[in-house]
Amino acid sequence: MDRLQNLSAALLDWYDRCAREMPWRGIHDSYRTWVSETMLQQTRVETVIPYYNRFLSRFPSLPCLAAADESEVLKLWEGLGYYSRARNLLKGARQVMEQYGGVLPDDPALLRKISGIGPYTAGAIASIAYDIPVPAVDGNVLRVYSRVFGIRSCLGEPAIRKRLESVAADAVPPLRAGDYNQAVMDLGATVCIPGTPECAVCPLSFMCSAFAAGDAAELPVLPRSVPQKVVHWTVPVIRSGSCVLVRRRNESLLRGLWCFPLLECDPADVCSAVKKKLRLAGACLIDSGPLHVRHVFTHLIWEMTVIPLEVSGNLPAPGDYRWVSLQELNALPFPTAMSIPLREAEKLLL
Ligand code: ADE
Repeated sequence: MDRLQNLSAALLDWYDRCAREMPWRGIHDSYRTWVSETMLQQTRVETVIPYYNRFLSRFPSLPCLAAADESEVLKLWEGLGYYSRARNLLKGARQVMEQYGGVLPDDPALLRKISGIGPYTAGAIASIAYDIPVPAVDGNVLRVYSRVFGIRSCLGEPAIRKRLESVAADAVPPLRAGDYNQAVMDLGATVCIPGTPECAVCPLSFMCSAFAAGDAAELPVLPRSVPQKVVHWTVPVIRSGSCVLVRRRNESLLRGLWCFPLLECDPADVCSAVKKKLRLAGACLIDSGPLHVRHVFTHLIWEMTVIPLEVSGNLPAPGDYRWVSLQELNALPFPTAMSIPLREAEKLLL
């Protein structure tokens, strides 16, 4: 057997003994694979499982999802983050209805033309749902291969990345491609982990270049990450009667989700900023003091000062803002960044 056959045999044997149970495994249903693989991007299996189960209960088939309102899809995605995944999944489902009668194609090149499906997801769907022998390369998989094959150059270099991707493509066995790809992902998530790999229990240590050289913990070599930009917001949570003021975001970050007003002003000037920017005169501070909240996105940090306020009279909601009741508030999709402001709003409305 050559090295790659050794690799796939050892991994499939390990998978048969140690595969973790997951609700999307053991079925051949391209829609379910699409949903699960979309949720699993940048997100841990344990986090995904309850979201996946709720999503599939509400949208058991692709036509069902395609007919949904974006807002309901975002509500089911609430807390999972990277909401463009949900918007693109919905867009893609509608595209599959129009172009393929509701059934995902099995050709990775066609899959990649569908909204929300990139090279990784196309490979995952084709291999897991349709048993097509193509790779599905994510960060975990790159880590496993860079260690096994001892790739010590920076993965940020396109030529190195290409080389690894070609190794990954060659490694996929002709049979059981989906199991094989999931085995590499599992190994990367549970054994061949960043920083502290558990080589003592690894089924590939016998053929791993980095294990032999003793530098598995240092691989892969990744480009230096850019420092996150910090943005400061003053976040007034404004009550008027039995409603609070919210706005549906149109910006690319968190588009379609709802937020409390995000003002650039100094927290000490919140009342005048509310008058000037939101055209709401006479806002008063409510006794509970300001709260400082930090929310970390991938490339960005929001440092927020949350300030409960109230206005009297029936002032109209400015621009694209809306006054919503407690019941409406709970039905709208909010990002995790708004958890503390939401809790404050609920306190104001109870
Ligand atoms: N990460 C992404 N897809 C996965 C899968 N199918 N199984 C385990 N981990 C994953």
